[in-house]
Amino acid sequence: MQLITGKAKIAAVLGWPIEHSRSPLLHNFWLQRHQIDGAYIPLAVKAEDFKNVIQGMKAAGFKGCNVTIPHKEAAYQCCDIVDETAKKMGSVNTLWFTEDGKIHGTSTDGDGFVANLKDADVTLTDKKVLILGAGGAARSVAYALLQDGAQITITNRTLQRAEQLVRDLGAGQIIEWKSWIKELGQFDVLVNTTSLGMEGKDDYLFDLQHASNDLVVTDIVYVPRVTPLLKAAELKGLKTVEGLGMLLHQARLGFSKWFGINPVVDHELTEFVANSLKK
Ligand code: ATR
Repeated sequence: MQLITGKAKIAAVLGWPIEHSRSPLLHNFWLQRHQIDGAYIPLAVKAEDFKNVIQGMKAAGFKGCNVTIPHKEAAYQCCDIVDETAKKMGSVNTLWFTEDGKIHGTSTDGDGFVANLKDADVTLTDKKVLILGAGGAARSVAYALLQDGAQITITNRTLQRAEQLVRDLGAGQIIEWKSWIKELGQFDVLVNTTSLGMEGKDDYLFDLQHASNDLVVTDIVYVPRVTPLLKAAELKGLKTVEGLGMLLHQARLGFSKWFGINPVVDHELTEFVANSLKK
């Protein structure tokens, strides 16, 4: 067992609520695996306390943190240095503090999404990708797909949000929500970024009758692990990619910044985190 000493490197995840976060499990799994003198802890932080907590963590010598709902935009405002991805998102999920006192931030969700697909041998350059949804998650996914050379089309229940996203990204096509099912045949990849199919929400029937046999189907929802969309795709014999891998891949950059090692996403980690989702 790895014990924490006085020299331990400490990082955290901040959210409200936070108890459902899987990030402590997965980061502490990597800390154990690499025998690192460090810890990653969950912090339940209310919106009104967020700024003070960040300053306090910096003063207390934390290496950095992840942030989740509802802090991603506030975290962006706290950063001294952000990259292009963060600027495009207007939000960050990963912060690291450097010795010069600066707070750095980026959003790793999009890269995590693309890395998960690449792990499953899905190439994206010049592929036609249909994105269901136009919220914050869709923004990260769409931007990363564009960076990778994919051609994106967005469909969303509320058309204006899709239009706004395409304007902000400066790229992408739009189709109406009521038309995506019959338009599906022209796409290589389908990704769900909506909350449809999430555990605890109403059932939703994903109709994939017009999909081509080569369609790759992926979901960013990972509870349940095999979502209604992925089930529908499996029934049609289509290739599927689970959303859990995105969660694992998006965590890698933060871990390397705080603890100095580039961790890998492998079967053992995936099963470890997946098992925790059953409880
Ligand atoms: P996130 O930041 O996780 O993307 P969000 O900004 O609330 O969360 O976005 C949720 C997405 O799920 C949106 O695209 C939303 O569609 P609207 O923009 O029309 O609200 C989509 N969504 C949620 N419930 C839905 C439903 N019942 N049918 C279709 N789309 C739904």
